[in-house]
Amino acid sequence: MKFSAAILLAVLSFPVSVLPAWAQPATTSQEVESRINTLLKQMTLEEKVGQLNTYSAGTATGPGTGLLPFPEMVSAGHVGALFNLVGAREANAMQRIAVERSRLHIPMLLGLDVIHGYRTTFPVPLGMSATWDTQLIESAARIAARESRADGINWVYSPMLDIARDGRWGRIVESEGEDPYLAAAIARAYVRGYQGTGSKPLLAGCAKHFVGYGAAEGGRDYNTTEISEHTLREVYLRPFRAAEQEGILSFMAAFNSLNGVPASANPFTLGQVLRKEWGFKGVVVGDWESVKEVMEHGIAIDGKTAALKAFKAGVTSDMQDNLYELHLAELVRSGSISEAEIDNAVRDVLRVKFALGLFDTPYADEAHPVFSGPIPEDARAVARQAAGSSFVLLKNEGKNGHAVLPLDTKTVHTIALIGPFADDRDAMLGSWSGQGKATDVVTLRSALEEYARGHNISVNYVQACTMTIVPNCDPQKAVEAARSADVVVLALGEHASERTGEAASVASLDLPGGQKDLVREVENAGKPSVMLLFNGHPLTFGELEPKLSAILEAWYPGVEAGPALVRTLFGDANPSGRLTVSFPRTVGQEPLYYNHLSTGRPADGVDLSKPPYDSDSKYVSRYLDETNAPAYPFGYGLSYTTFEYSAPQLSTASTSAALLNGGKPDAAVRITATVRNSGNVAGAEVVQLYIRRRGTSVTMPVRELKGFKKITLAPGESKNVTFTLGRDELAFWNIDMKEIVEPEEVSVWVSHDSASGTPVKFEIKQ
Ligand code: BGC
Repeated sequence: MKFSAAILLAVLSFPVSVLPAWAQPATTSQEVESRINTLLKQMTLEEKVGQLNTYSAGTATGPGTGLLPFPEMVSAGHVGALFNLVGAREANAMQRIAVERSRLHIPMLLGLDVIHGYRTTFPVPLGMSATWDTQLIESAARIAARESRADGINWVYSPMLDIARDGRWGRIVESEGEDPYLAAAIARAYVRGYQGTGSKPLLAGCAKHFVGYGAAEGGRDYNTTEISEHTLREVYLRPFRAAEQEGILSFMAAFNSLNGVPASANPFTLGQVLRKEWGFKGVVVGDWESVKEVMEHGIAIDGKTAALKAFKAGVTSDMQDNLYELHLAELVRSGSISEAEIDNAVRDVLRVKFALGLFDTPYADEAHPVFSGPIPEDARAVARQAAGSSFVLLKNEGKNGHAVLPLDTKTVHTIALIGPFADDRDAMLGSWSGQGKATDVVTLRSALEEYARGHNISVNYVQACTMTIVPNCDPQKAVEAARSADVVVLALGEHASERTGEAASVASLDLPGGQKDLVREVENAGKPSVMLLFNGHPLTFGELEPKLSAILEAWYPGVEAGPALVRTLFGDANPSGRLTVSFPRTVGQEPLYYNHLSTGRPADGVDLSKPPYDSDSKYVSRYLDETNAPAYPFGYGLSYTTFEYSAPQLSTASTSAALLNGGKPDAAVRITATVRNSGNVAGAEVVQLYIRRRGTSVTMPVRELKGFKKITLAPGESKNVTFTLGRDELAFWNIDMKEIVEPEEVSVWVSHDSASGTPVKFEIKQ
């Protein structure tokens, strides 16, 4: 498949349709409903249950499992969805069995974990979120969708919308970070990108993991979650709600138990919120064996009850654990589930299949397989831009007080390139990379060597450490290379697939293995050192930080890692990524997030760097041995230029809750600030708007993001940036669990990050 720039542009500039498929013009949806009813009348109970099964290709079936052998499962109409097939030929072969050999010719949903790209691998989701660029995220998702669909995939298990506030959690790398407002904006971008914006979705997205999975206690994957209804609605549900409003076609129920009830059998979140309040009518798939796991959680002691509870709560499709296949028909016969309930679930599945046009076009074009062809340059260009925009410059100040980046080709003649991530293709793909191929990756070493050849620079590369979960490092050659270099570039981090992602939670956030010692040894060479970090957890640097002249957070940048890094290192691109998770000083601060509530004894104004000498500094909410502040806050990121902010101007000093609640646009408050590029090079700034409300019926966060704009400024250029705070931004879930605007006092910051700026205030009267 080949994208020309023109096609790509045309695809991306399609008008946005926020209507889900079933809300399309009545004639069409009536037609679909009547086709669904016709089908339902012809289906046996077993065939109906078959539509509610999702299997991974390669699943063991046959004798001993209670199931038919595999291809027969499909031809008997017992598989509604299949995932993990590779390439158009394999997808078509299976789809043909469903469409041509099953009695009713119903096509299957063909799924895959397309997490940050299908073939063209973009930065990991946490990196993508750090771009704060929803248009770019949409473009990347659109490319992933087109590639997936071309290879027969019509259902992607993305976006992951779990708010993640604990750096120990391995899956923080798959998340959009700690903030619900930003995650909601990103959720919408993914849905538009994956599903398209026309009336016929390109494929079905899947909002996962519903819900609360990211709040695992202690950051340990799969662990219990306890979230009050207020926080659930105010924080964890918001990005899912945004995806639903944007028309996402499916949800995935999560592994965790939420307030004592497993998310995959949770009548409140699945039944009350998703189905009743939001009116969602698509597929809810369980996570891998999550229906079976409700037995481990302890709310069922046999598979039949597990299936019953999950189904009744609202899981339409059972992923991988056979429990629907084995028990649903029997549960109908015994009267525990009505056939009408089964019909409704089947309707949800068939509706998605009709929406995707699978009945008309079930097959992929095998003549143009994406899996085996080269990545087109247009897609690479988006991957390069995404990688470049995701980098977050955390530090840029050498021991002499000067910035070491960007590197100056006039003074840098020899570079020591050190570390296991400098030339490892697999690592650049990140933790979970669809059908990404390591051979597509351009590494930092190869891109840097190519650049160096053209600029008369020599590069001495030393791997120094093993690429393992706990890297073993031998600093000797690295130190030698550092001694004879003008600058040291260290490429360090965490093993991508084994130390980040699912089941990769950690109790220490330090740079793993011998890498810390490597930094210490290399420092002895006395040369400026730039650390490029490839990681999925927010790491702690501690006493390493002062030894480094610059730290660039690179996440796992994808196929264009090398070119994007080299452009940034030499100043052809200016870092514009901003953190979407707080980076702690020490793991003991976790969970750590900027938008926490106040306490009755806040530590504001207390010098936390000293032990408490008196009761004023002791009896506040603090640690005795560490400050409360993160090492790098949410929203933070440096640039090669500097930006100045004017004091924000408010359009009014007061407004009315009644008018805002009545949806009157005039009641909205506008805030304008002037942002000026006060440095010498062009750069992009993410202008962020935060609020704090007081006088409300429930306590609200000390700061909350409610707007952001990414703008580009030439040196000396100024722009006015205006935000609007209306009902959408100001309503919250109050003490009566109603989402309304209350009379309150609102402080507003327009600032560079969540820890800077000076607030102005307005009042919301009755
Ligand atoms: C993960 C999901 C994923 C599913 C299917 C599970 O282990 O939690 O995110 O979509 O597997 O591969």
